[in-house]
Amino acid sequence: MSMKLVIFIAVSWLQVSTLGWAQENMYPPIVPPDELMAARSLKNPFTTSQEAIDQGKTLYEGRVFCAACHGKDGTGLPSDVDPTTARYPFPRDFTDPKWQTARTDGELFWVLTEGSHGTDMASFLPMYLAEKDAWQIIMYIRTFVKFSEKL
Ligand code: HEC
Repeated sequence: MSMKLVIFIAVSWLQVSTLGWAQENMYPPIVPPDELMAARSLKNPFTTSQEAIDQGKTLYEGRVFCAACHGKDGTGLPSDVDPTTARYPFPRDFTDPKWQTARTDGELFWVLTEGSHGTDMASFLPMYLAEKDAWQIIMYIRTFVKFSEKL
């Protein structure tokens, strides 16, 4: 095998493997490693219903201002927010199926309870949201993506 060919194969392999790495690491967990197992396995104790989702939407857009940072459509910073006034990291795109599958409900609940330290995401439980409210908002966040259409 010529040297050029060997180099070509090595470079291609490197590109393919780093691409895979980047995709897998687009949404690294926010929950710290020692709490991740417990957070991931936490299940929503309430039954999902249209009524619960509607209540989640009312909270998300209303009293607790999630939409101010996450957008009414869930895609992240709303267009009327000047990005230079917002602190990095910015909110994730809740409509991305890859984000939706990267997170369990329990992980979202953890972030709502603890916040994400060093970012603009504050803790909302139990000060501003009751547990039931939080689960209703999570049910609503899950509706931002239709998996069958986007995957
Ligand atoms: C002041 C702006 C702000 C408000 C208000 C806000 N968030 Fe956030 N939120 C953020 C930012 C910024 C992040 C990203 C944090 C990070 O990258 O670690 C985030 C992260 C999250 C996450 C974790 C996303 C992930 O990848 O796991 C969830 C869930 C979430 N927010 C839900 C909510 C809900 C529900 C509300 C309303 C109760 C809310 N946020 C209100 C700014 C905000």
